[in-house]
Amino acid sequence: MLDQNNIPRHVAIIIDGNGRWAKEKGLPRIAGHRVGINRVREIIKAAGNLGIKVISFFVFSAENWVRPKKEVDMLMRFLNHFLSREIKKLDKNNIKFRWIGRAKPIPKELQAKIREAEEKTRGNTGLVLLLALNYGARQEIIEAVRKFTQQVLEGKANLEDLDVESFSNYLYTRGLPDPDLLIRTSGEMRLSNFLLWQLSYTELYFPKKYWPDFKRQDLEEAIRVYQKRQRRFGGIDSQEKR
Ligand code: IPE
Ligand code: MG
Repeated sequence: MLDQNNIPRHVAIIIDGNGRWAKEKGLPRIAGHRVGINRVREIIKAAGNLGIKVISFFVFSAENWVRPKKEVDMLMRFLNHFLSREIKKLDKNNIKFRWIGRAKPIPKELQAKIREAEEKTRGNTGLVLLLALNYGARQEIIEAVRKFTQQVLEGKANLEDLDVESFSNYLYTRGLPDPDLLIRTSGEMRLSNFLLWQLSYTELYFPKKYWPDFKRQDLEEAIRVYQKRQRRFGGIDSQEKR
């Protein structure tokens, strides 16, 4: 049983292992991506049911463009297809869609879909679905520094006003809580340039399963593990306090 009073507010997921999953089955890598998209759908639904407030998925990094063109093209097509099919359903379920990353060089058609999904679901108040696509944390931080510096140069901000909280407002994730739990599937233990600023105090969890095998029960297991962790945020165990 899960402790309903300790459900992570924001669960961030690095999708990994689609290619290996397919390879082990003698299938082309793209078959893994296809099943992977279905898992995303399933996990969104489970997240909503569990009372998670924000679920984010790292589906394509700013560094993933170096993959074979055929794989990249197919992935973009899958994502396009996914949004085309899901926008209505997301909206109906009161889910608010947000995207983080850089627009270029995402195919124009997919960019338009992303905007459409954001606009259509903007007023929704339920689960926030955050899609990181052509996202890189270092790039995000550099952009934030640039935006802030520009404000200073224009006399709209003061250097002294910059602190951890105000800086967060210059990041793509403005207004969202930091992740409480990060899951990366397939046993890889790396952050790969995902939400570097926001993950400062996040609990990390690295299940062995490949993403296409990651189901609702696995998300629940991740939360069970999370609930056993003691988060101290630099402090000491509260029971030891006197
Ligand atoms: C994750 O699976 C999906 C994306 C990054 C788009 P991979 O494609 O990285 O699968 P492996 O790591 O090769 O198994
Ligand atoms: Mg991988």
